[in-house]
Amino acid sequence: MKIGFLGFGEVASTLSKGLLKHGVNVATCVEGRSSETKELAGKSGVTLYKSNKELAEVSDILLSTVTPSQSIIVAMEVGDHVNGVYVDMNNVSPRTVKEALSYIHNGKTVDASIIGRVKKGLSVHIITSGNYACQFTELNKYGMNISVIGDELGQASAIKMLRSSFTKGISALLLETLYTAYKMGIDEEVLNIIAETEGENFKDSAISRIISSSLHAKRRCEEMEEVVELISENGNPQMSKATVQVFKLLYKKIDKLKERPKTYKEVFKLMEREYKKNNIGNNGY
Ligand SMILES: NC(=O)c1ccc[n+]([C@@H]2O[C@H](COP(=O)([O-])OP(=O)(O)OC[C@H]3O[C@@H](n4cnc5c(N)ncnc54)[C@H](OP(=O)(O)O)[C@@H]3O)[C@@H](O)[C@H]2O)c1
Repeated sequence: MKIGFLGFGEVASTLSKGLLKHGVNVATCVEGRSSETKELAGKSGVTLYKSNKELAEVSDILLSTVTPSQSIIVAMEVGDHVNGVYVDMNNVSPRTVKEALSYIHNGKTVDASIIGRVKKGLSVHIITSGNYACQFTELNKYGMNISVIGDELGQASAIKMLRSSFTKGISALLLETLYTAYKMGIDEEVLNIIAETEGENFKDSAISRIISSSLHAKRRCEEMEEVVELISENGNPQMSKATVQVFKLLYKKIDKLKERPKTYKEVFKLMEREYKKNNIGNNGY
């Protein structure tokens, strides 16, 4: 069985590592991609193809792991060349995933969503929907943890989007609350007071959310734009729109981060420096 990855970032490199260990044939194409992507793919030992179209032709299962804004673009590019099953794993709204999958002319499509961080490896939970989802679950025999939650495209993405509305909304609220506390010199106290009602794990999870938000703000912003779209179709997005703004401000300021900050104070120091440079913060956010 040959598994192809469109895009070779954190998701593709992590899943490839596990699949290669199980003897699966894994391939990608990095023509025209960034040096980071080329380096990741080079180190991983996957087979490299000259074009995404060629990759689409030879893959039994082709996984789209690009970025949310590229989900449709990449599906349009390879749509006529897919011979196997095409799985969209990007964090996009049901409408976007349905549009992307509509370009796959053989119709063998799956809507898939990774639940949580992929760094867990092959055991990360992936929910799927669509008539071909069962074919994707064949990879469970190599250690993946894929479950089918419905037979309609868009169902898996909707669940994922609503989960993100909650989890990323909490992260944005934490960023705003604790940055203010940090500026006032009472961040430790605020963390401790909230932990009194939210439970022992609150402090660690709050700190981890702030640090990872700083590293992935751009991707999260794109994902929250998809959440806004889903909520607009069904109701009145207010919190999700504000969450987009918080992540947008964050990634514009500290997009250049290459290394994981070790403490949340490091993130706030960077924010403080950038806000000062741009005269943000004298009258609040
Ligand atoms: N990381 C996670 O834990 C996680 C969890 C759940 C869902 N997801 C979703 O999974 C997808 C991939 O996430 P990731 O963390 O792997 O992202 P990432 O690390 O940013 O990697 C994205 C990869 O896609 C490539 N790419 C972008 N546009 C492309 C295009 N048009 N054609 C081919 N390749 C393209 C990028 O290449 P360049 O370097 O050249 O830009 C990069 O190799 C995202 O949609 C994300 O929302 C991720």
